[in-house]
Amino acid sequence: MKMSPTRTFALFVASAAALLAGPSFTIDATRSTGSVSPRLYGLMTEEINHSYDGGLYAELIRNHAFLDDNNSPANWLAVKDDASAASITLDPANPLNENIPTSLRLTVTQATQAHPAGVANSGYWGIPVHPQTQYRASLWAKAESGFTGPLSVSIVSEDGRTVYSSGKISGLTTKWKKFEVKLTTGNVAPTAQARFAVTVDQPGTVWLGLVSLFPPTWNDRPNGLRKDLMQMLVDLHPKFLRFPGGNFVEGVNVEDRFPWKKTLGPIEDRPGHNGSWGYRPSDGMGLLEFLEWCEDMRAEPVLAVYAGYSLAGGYIKAGPDLKLIVQEALDEIEYVIGGTNTPWGARRAKDGHPAPFKLNYVEIGNEDAFDKAKTYDGRYAQLHDAIKAKYPQLNLISTIPGAKLEGRKPDMEDYHDYSSTENFLKKSVDYGKDLNRKGPEVFVGEWAAHEDTAVPPWNEASKKMAPTPSMKAAIGDAVFMAAMERNADIIKMHCYAPLLVNVNPGAWQWRPDMIGYDALTSFGSPSYYAFGMFSRNVGDEILSVNFADTSVQGCAARDSQTGEIIIKLVNPESSPQTLPIAIKGVTSLKPEATVITLSAKPEDTNSISEPKNVVPVTTTLRGIKPGITYTLPPTSIVVIKLKSL
Ligand code: AHR
Repeated sequence: MKMSPTRTFALFVASAAALLAGPSFTIDATRSTGSVSPRLYGLMTEEINHSYDGGLYAELIRNHAFLDDNNSPANWLAVKDDASAASITLDPANPLNENIPTSLRLTVTQATQAHPAGVANSGYWGIPVHPQTQYRASLWAKAESGFTGPLSVSIVSEDGRTVYSSGKISGLTTKWKKFEVKLTTGNVAPTAQARFAVTVDQPGTVWLGLVSLFPPTWNDRPNGLRKDLMQMLVDLHPKFLRFPGGNFVEGVNVEDRFPWKKTLGPIEDRPGHNGSWGYRPSDGMGLLEFLEWCEDMRAEPVLAVYAGYSLAGGYIKAGPDLKLIVQEALDEIEYVIGGTNTPWGARRAKDGHPAPFKLNYVEIGNEDAFDKAKTYDGRYAQLHDAIKAKYPQLNLISTIPGAKLEGRKPDMEDYHDYSSTENFLKKSVDYGKDLNRKGPEVFVGEWAAHEDTAVPPWNEASKKMAPTPSMKAAIGDAVFMAAMERNADIIKMHCYAPLLVNVNPGAWQWRPDMIGYDALTSFGSPSYYAFGMFSRNVGDEILSVNFADTSVQGCAARDSQTGEIIIKLVNPESSPQTLPIAIKGVTSLKPEATVITLSAKPEDTNSISEPKNVVPVTTTLRGIKPGITYTLPPTSIVVIKLKSL
């Protein structure tokens, strides 16, 4: 698209007098105005947009426990042709176990080697087939008396004609037994037009319990995470992970709250539950998987505990009624950090992780300001007292900034901010002036810029837009991140939300999201790259900055170890902006600086087909002297790393 010579979304028009004076940007390096928290940049996550099932959690079988629909085996279909016959049905009379109260019954009435029959699953919008890759298939099975198999387990094309890999299972009995097969692909072209099939070549009746298929996972964890997505997350150098919500911790009704106890142990013991976003999570991604995910990213958990309020308005009032919820929270914390001599610490050890996890922050609920009955003060106070009594070292986060909380003082308050780029550009200029420096520390636990002020994420019209944002949104993100960094003396942590989106039609509920993917590939949005430019380049001393007569915004910080001055600048204009940069207190600079630039037209973006359309470029700037002038490209985010001599 042709670039307009006029400003596309500039908001600041300098006065005539000021234009004469010209733009300027001054950094005061004579002193620091505060410390940047080492935890400033983190991630927020919940089961939304198929973030885990059909996303980060590498399980490829959709509805692996047959519990997604009470009436039919959703996402499973019978495999048969004109010379074979098979039917499938749910069979609660033959449950796998007390946690998975059903199974899938496969009845084959006609089948031969040339015409097998069985059942297939197309995964989450396809089974990804990668070349020379080993998959781990497992299934629980039993058969009618006299039928011992074999079962063919294979990854095949959608029409069944191409077999990418196949293995055999035999020795079925009338009792449930777990079978495992490794399936290795050859030198095939990657595709997601594939399915997983279990077939027989003779008539018989077979029951299937939990069926699972995993590709290689990050750190080879058996119930692990998708490698490409983990690499993208690790590359952001996140210092914390806020989980499991968001709305996901609350559930639609009280009984749908995140059932952390039922998310532990072997996946064949996890029934899943009603999610908060219109589909049923398998809970294969359970509490231990969240904690190990943190470990694998070297990030610490920010654990959100359910606090007695759910999305449809149901709540449990403070007092004796809430005791059960308080105990659930205490048990959950014990699972995370308790010694192995405690009941839940022992359970963690039994689950394979004897060492306690790191935990400093616990959030009490999520967005409790939506509770129309206004019961948070009492609920917070009760949870606060119980957690502080047992774990005085933990920092507690309230979800309603400024709430009275029956006199309890939270260590931190969680502010959420979903704004348009236009609004972030406006409010970021003076952001932070209203924050109470004497109050609790600030956690911006959810934030993101959207492109169109009239189309916020909760507006139906957003469903017609791409699930991941464009460069225009990244500009809004970047000015807000710069504002938060300038106020990092009080803003100690923040995280973009939502983090992940399966971009298939029907897979997502909310936009914009930072990282998009389908079954086969993934990509970072411009917002992903903007976030990474900020999160990977962090100083520890805030330097105050002054912008005059320019629409460019930014921040500066110094790394006290290396002396490096890290300047972050955002040009929202569709024309280049030239800015003299003055650094008070620095008389000599190393002649070379590193510059990282993300620049594109506002409407430019990344996608499955064009994953690297908008990416940062790193260059070396030479001949640097104090009092440099820098020209920012149109609609750009620039990080300049200067070293003083
Ligand atoms: O990030 C999407 C949703 O926005 C979160 O679940 C909720 O906390 C907020 O309203």
